[in-house]
Amino acid sequence: MLPLRLDRLPAGLALFVLSASPLVSAFYLPGITPTNYNNGDLVQLTVNHLTPSQSARDTHVRSVFSFDYYHRAFHFCPPEGGPESISESLGSILFGDRIQTSPFQLHMNVNETCKAVCDQQVFEPREAKFVNRRIWQNFNLNWLVDGLPAGQRYLDPKTNTDFYQPGFALGEVKDEQPRLNNHYNIYIDQHQVRRDQYRVVGILVEPESLGESKRVGTGDDFSATCGNSGVAQLLDERVQTSVTWTYSVTWRPSTTSFATRWDKYLHVYDPKIHWFWLVNSAVVVMFLIGMVSTILARTLRKDIKRYNRLDQLGLDDFSGTDDVEDGVVEDSGWKLVHGDVFRPPKYSLALSVLVGNGAQLFTMAGFTIAFAVVGFLSPSNRGSLATVMILLYTFFGFIGGYVSSRVYKSFNGTKWKQLFIWTPSAVPALVFGTFFLLNLFVWARQSSGAVPFTTMLVIVGIWFVISVPLSIAGSWLGFKQPQADAPVRTNQIPRQIPPSHGYLRPLPSMLLVGVLPFFAIFVELYFVMNSLWSSRIYYMFGFLFLSFGLLVVTSAAVTIMMVYFVLCAENYHWQWRAFASSGASAGYVFAYSLLYWAQMLKFSSFTGGLLYLGYSMLISFLWFVLSGTIGFFACWVFVHRIYGSLKID
Ligand SMILES: *[C@@H]1O[C@H](CO)[C@@H](O)[C@H](O)[C@H]1NC(C)=O
Repeated sequence: MLPLRLDRLPAGLALFVLSASPLVSAFYLPGITPTNYNNGDLVQLTVNHLTPSQSARDTHVRSVFSFDYYHRAFHFCPPEGGPESISESLGSILFGDRIQTSPFQLHMNVNETCKAVCDQQVFEPREAKFVNRRIWQNFNLNWLVDGLPAGQRYLDPKTNTDFYQPGFALGEVKDEQPRLNNHYNIYIDQHQVRRDQYRVVGILVEPESLGESKRVGTGDDFSATCGNSGVAQLLDERVQTSVTWTYSVTWRPSTTSFATRWDKYLHVYDPKIHWFWLVNSAVVVMFLIGMVSTILARTLRKDIKRYNRLDQLGLDDFSGTDDVEDGVVEDSGWKLVHGDVFRPPKYSLALSVLVGNGAQLFTMAGFTIAFAVVGFLSPSNRGSLATVMILLYTFFGFIGGYVSSRVYKSFNGTKWKQLFIWTPSAVPALVFGTFFLLNLFVWARQSSGAVPFTTMLVIVGIWFVISVPLSIAGSWLGFKQPQADAPVRTNQIPRQIPPSHGYLRPLPSMLLVGVLPFFAIFVELYFVMNSLWSSRIYYMFGFLFLSFGLLVVTSAAVTIMMVYFVLCAENYHWQWRAFASSGASAGYVFAYSLLYWAQMLKFSSFTGGLLYLGYSMLISFLWFVLSGTIGFFACWVFVHRIYGSLKID
């Protein structure tokens, strides 16, 4: 439909930058440096945690927990001397990666058939129950070879292209019986770069359930006899079951080059639908905004002209409009509140703190997406996205502090000490507190998804040592700046506000304003949620970038409109109104996550649902702060502009 493939753009651009630059080696981030192997060299296979995945039967995801590969109940063979952890980035750990060494012996270009991984393992009934349950929940194994995830091959029926999906099944359910996959057919694609120099460019695993497999060798001889595929490996929940883990390795020459080896993993499901929706919502939203803002701009220009003309006639206030010439009907009364519109709102401290934090989130999100679009945060660089987000958020504490104190100053704030303390602590403490609580549940379930205590300490440390001082420095700088003059003077005595009606009441106006920004981005939201909850790779940052832009434009435009109507109704309490109605799209995001739960997820435990709800609330709250800030600043500019163009003595 559309010739441009935006999803390919980032990777292509990054490759272009990388290959065109003489600094190639300096540019390669760890994890993407190619490794060359000679024939027979050991290629390390590392193992990551087990994650729940979508079931093939009804596309539901049934769990939110993940488990350590060497969890005792699974009885996977550890390497000699015990598994070692591979060091990872902060973001990688936060998002659950637990990478460890494995006993698999893969030698470049050495094919193997049916080798045992270790001695026979015995499953107790209790453990069998545990593993069977994980098979019912479609748990996947996640292996890594040379930084590439081991995948399964899928065919996209719509486009008829095949692609690799990271992870392969722990077992499968057939005839209402969970079968354990105890044999792995490992296919590795190698690409020859020079004589006797090879690179790993793809890895597929086809697991099988083969009962009656046995190890026959002893000592270093791991040969085995694999059972035939007619007899499946079942785990008995009443008596002990013995299982032999076996694997075969096939090396296949491939023409895929190292630079493009990720392409197969980054498959776009139905790019047409994606495009269709994005363009669709963009057009509708842009049309609406264009239309309404033209009308608004014209009305405003007329208003301002008329107000200023009346001013020349010497009519200070035309509340008694009866004697005004040429039948001007008073249809907009926003001028009437000019003496109150810059009156500081109630709870100005809280609003300043929220707006400051929103600005911090906004810049963090903007920069992260921008980095991702140019390809710096590619999925081949595990955890880089989350790490960069955390670092940016920490450093932008400065912006948060500065913005909140500038806003507070314009509100004639006096409780400066409180502002300095609350800005860096209120929102982060709430987020971290919730995160910590939810993490306790994960930890209680013995899931490996629980963030280790030391990582928690590191996060608190980073926040305390870098973010807090930066925020305070920013606040201090903002505090030292002269107060921005309001374009019109504020009266001593506040005006009476007439009661508002219909959609101008707070709640209806929030519902109304929130729906449009949500509409602009909900397609992308679906893909982001998919990658969060069913462990898919998210990498369509081009789309995300566009959606983010749409979100900003829509939130700003709709909120300005609402505030205009509110001011016309002689209600000058616009500050909180702007923040809350623009932030109201968070309510829709939360409602959408409930819908997503109903459609895509099916938790078999109470804690699963609780975790999902908790994280959804957390995300919605951050969303509220971020998009509320967009609306607030849009209206800030708007209000300053329109009252600035009035001639008032
Ligand atoms: C390994 O097996 C594959 C597929 O049968 C074959 O193409 C390849 O040449 C074999 N490699 C070696 C070193 O025998």
